[in-house]
Amino acid sequence: MPRDITLIDTQLASFRHDVLSGLSRPRKTLPPRWLYDDRGCALFEEITRLPEYYPTRTETAILTDNAEEIAAFCGDDAVMLEYGAGAGIKTRIVIDALPSLRLYVPIDIAADFLQQTAERLARQFPSLRTLPIVGDFTADLHLPSSIPTANRFGFFPGSTIGNLDPDEAASFLARLRRHVGGTGRCIIGVDLKKDVGMLIDAYDDSQGVTAAFNLNLLQRINRELDGTFAPDRFRHRAVWNEPEGAVEMHLESMVPQTVVVAGRPFRFQAGETIHTESSRKYSIASFAALAAGSGWQCDRVWMDGDQKFAVFGLV
Ligand SMILES: C[S@@+](CC[C@H](N)C(=O)[O-])C[C@H]1O[C@@H](n2cnc3c(N)ncnc32)[C@H](O)[C@@H]1O
Repeated sequence: MPRDITLIDTQLASFRHDVLSGLSRPRKTLPPRWLYDDRGCALFEEITRLPEYYPTRTETAILTDNAEEIAAFCGDDAVMLEYGAGAGIKTRIVIDALPSLRLYVPIDIAADFLQQTAERLARQFPSLRTLPIVGDFTADLHLPSSIPTANRFGFFPGSTIGNLDPDEAASFLARLRRHVGGTGRCIIGVDLKKDVGMLIDAYDDSQGVTAAFNLNLLQRINRELDGTFAPDRFRHRAVWNEPEGAVEMHLESMVPQTVVVAGRPFRFQAGETIHTESSRKYSIASFAALAAGSGWQCDRVWMDGDQKFAVFGLV
């Protein structure tokens, strides 16, 4: 996949805009998509293998155990649009079960990681046509007209939908409906509400990998936006926000300090945080209602025995 210079420049401009506006707010915040530079993607893959991080192994088992039914739900000669493809580990389970798949379209904001994933999948499935797209799925994303319109389905695993706030999630699901068309389908992984202790452990592991993933954002700002963050003056925090039904990741300033980014100073009090990610947890009913509001009907739900995680088949 050729690197598109205009696209990289546009990404840098959006990153700069989001960081400067997010750090200027009374409650500092940064959109989670910027956690995924090359190192962020690699650290996320490490997180997925941690004992505390139940979502990946639970969702992988659900997909594996129900692969035949999921393949039947997607249908023959399908075109798969995957949003936030990451390392494409779960993708393999679906591709394996769908030998008639016509085209695989992975979409991700992390250009280099996407390229590596596309190359790996091309080696594993040499006869599969692949069309990777670098883009932000929370923005209006126009798909190339070369993608066949018939039999499209969206694949959105990883509970990445939980990182979107309710309005963003509704807009995303409506966009997905437009992308796949009125007869299209969608397979989407959703993390379910559960014991708060288990949730906090999943986002604040004992080996400190999630902390490194979160703190890496400061290093990215230093590198790409000429920032002066001292990451050892911040610490990772994971907190449960009950009204939002979400685990939040924050970076907490341990001392009073001023940080400069792109020539602009930002003042931090001791204990003040930057909110870097929310991971919303749904019930089956609350997610089905969200999907219904964006033109989707819940046709199937596959779950693990402990009902920790759900994979929805939407039509
Ligand atoms: C939580 S990871 C999930 C990865 C993989 N799908 C899985 O299930 O393990 C989120 C992935 O989505 C990508 N991503 C996050 N926000 C994005 C956005 N707004 N637009 C496009 N890709 C995004 C990240 O680069 C990362 O690869």
